[in-house]
Amino acid sequence: MDAELVALLEALHREGREFDAGQPDRLSRRRNLEPETAALLALLVEALAPQHLLELGTSNGYSTIWLADAARRIGASLVSVEIERQRVEQARANLVRAGLSDQVQLRCADAAEVLAQSQDAQWQFVFLDAERPAYVGYWPQLMRVLAPGGLLVVDNVISHADELQGFRALVSGQDGVREALAPTGAGALLVLRS
Ligand SMILES: C[S@@+](CC[C@H](N)C(=O)[O-])C[C@H]1O[C@@H](n2cnc3c(N)ncnc32)[C@H](O)[C@@H]1O
Repeated sequence: MDAELVALLEALHREGREFDAGQPDRLSRRRNLEPETAALLALLVEALAPQHLLELGTSNGYSTIWLADAARRIGASLVSVEIERQRVEQARANLVRAGLSDQVQLRCADAAEVLAQSQDAQWQFVFLDAERPAYVGYWPQLMRVLAPGGLLVVDNVISHADELQGFRALVSGQDGVREALAPTGAGALLVLRS
């Protein structure tokens, strides 16, 4: 990653933390991913070389920039989904600043809708970072749209373990997947579809 992009990501993350500290309402915060988890995601993308990547929960594009940079290296495509229009526009502006706007298709939509519209086995890599209570409902679709050999990464499984109990139970009880927990940042669950 070039020094300019590193500096931009550091600035975005710092600004995000400062912004969030002034927002009593959780939903108003940007809630950017921890840099160490973002670096793990980028490394996984480069190592596994998935061709079609899906991000659910863009916010202002911090994790999207990490994913887009990795996708560019391996010649992959990335779709990132955000339900709030204003955040999509912030992400778009940040992707332009990063020189990565051509690398990403930003969609202002509900993650559930995008999953329902996706073809079977369409995605080889899915990063799930939206509203946790909805994840249980996403699970059947995630299993349908994740390609064999594809990887699903879910953030916050340690920081919000209680909220994700039901989802984790579904993953554990599912045939045809293997999981591992990376205790990085807020805790990232890696789910590999066999
Ligand atoms: C934790 S933040 C994502 C942070 C982002 N991945 C990053 O690292 O910068 C969650 C985002 O998901 C969005 N979101 C919540 N529910 C959603 C849904 N049903 N579909 C799409 N986006 C959703 C929120 O508006 C919020 O911007």
